[in-house]
Amino acid sequence: MKGLVVYYSATGSTKKVARAIHRGMSGVIETDLVTVKDIDPDEVADYDLVGIGSPIWFFRETANVRLFMHRLPRLDGKSGFVFCSHGTAPLGIFHSMVPFLRRKGLSIIGWGDWYGSAYQVLHAPKPYFTDGHPDGIDLAEAEAFGREMAERALKVAAGQSELIPKMPAGPDADLLFHPHPIGEPFPGANPTRAVDLKTCLHPDCTLCEDVCPAHCIQLLDDPPSFGPECSNCSLCNRLCPTGAIVLEGEAAKRMQPIKRIDMTKCSYPECRLCVTYCPMDSLDFSQDPPVFTHACEGCDLCWTICPEGAIEIVNLKDTHAKMWEGFSNARRGGQDHPFLEMLRQAQAEGRFRPLVEMDDIGWESPVFSITRTPRFDIHDLLKEE
Ligand SMILES: Cc1cc2nc3c(=O)[nH]c(=O)nc-3n(C[C@H](O)[C@H](O)[C@H](O)COP(=O)(O)O)c2cc1C
Repeated sequence: MKGLVVYYSATGSTKKVARAIHRGMSGVIETDLVTVKDIDPDEVADYDLVGIGSPIWFFRETANVRLFMHRLPRLDGKSGFVFCSHGTAPLGIFHSMVPFLRRKGLSIIGWGDWYGSAYQVLHAPKPYFTDGHPDGIDLAEAEAFGREMAERALKVAAGQSELIPKMPAGPDADLLFHPHPIGEPFPGANPTRAVDLKTCLHPDCTLCEDVCPAHCIQLLDDPPSFGPECSNCSLCNRLCPTGAIVLEGEAAKRMQPIKRIDMTKCSYPECRLCVTYCPMDSLDFSQDPPVFTHACEGCDLCWTICPEGAIEIVNLKDTHAKMWEGFSNARRGGQDHPFLEMLRQAQAEGRFRPLVEMDDIGWESPVFSITRTPRFDIHDLLKEE
């Protein structure tokens, strides 16, 4: 049996977990470790056990991981597992990933989640509640998880199919397995989506329908429709090859940071960090001035790592400053932010160990107020230990 761990990590937390899982698996079966960028999805068919990992972004896996999963070949007869790292709100991701991979024929034999640090959530206080994770204890758990997945896969391959777990469902299931609509912190935010029929490639392309975790897009309707189950996760509009899905309404302006590059500060092409590390290849320097395409996830990694501070978020007041209000109000009003409530509960249940004292949380300093550049050095964040 041959194993594979494939992952995306913007700032290193998922990478650490992936490396630990790989260590654990390697003690049992021969296992490779790669990023989603470094493997052709078709090559995954050469493996018998496949673990796929992602940070949680917008209560789901990242769009580049979703696209990778979409491009996988049929994987009937093979075993798989999923894992993630996340901040204070571990919601939605397994609901999004597990059924999607099962439809590819993969038998999902397990799942695991770990807290991670937050560097590029611009409205997050810094230090953040979950900073310091994953630590040595987390990584020892991840290694044991990798070992367990490899051992279980061997038993499943030997006929013990009763070891394939059912995905938790219903109101008592962990929030990781629930669909999570993106409402707050964009109150009343569900923007209307519309398909520009002039640029839409349907019927040759059905990618938006295929990747939608809510199965709510009907391209055959006239005009194409987005059903009420839409959780506003934005996979459709970000992954559409032509950018034909447009967001309309007031909320649309607040959903995605509008960015521009100050070319008096930018040192492209000597420096290409933003291009190299953009998970969606969404920076187009062939245009003058450079543009961010519709594929931009709004992850703000480029802003975080630009050595010159050349990237400006034009609508920062409508996006991050607005969302920061939630945390600062919570501080003043007795900490009733829903994310903090979740964290307190996770701590009470023994699922979360704080590594930053409450008094040390950067209550007065959200990430977007950091002025030094780079705000965080990408080489430090991704360095191997
Ligand atoms: C754009 C964006 C969206 C995020 N959304 C969530 C979320 O919905 N829930 C959550 O718990 N954490 C969220 N996070 C925090 C990350 O999941 C967390 O920091 C993770 O450990 C980062 O992993 P990485 O270092 O491998 O990139 C988000 C981070 C970013 C940048």
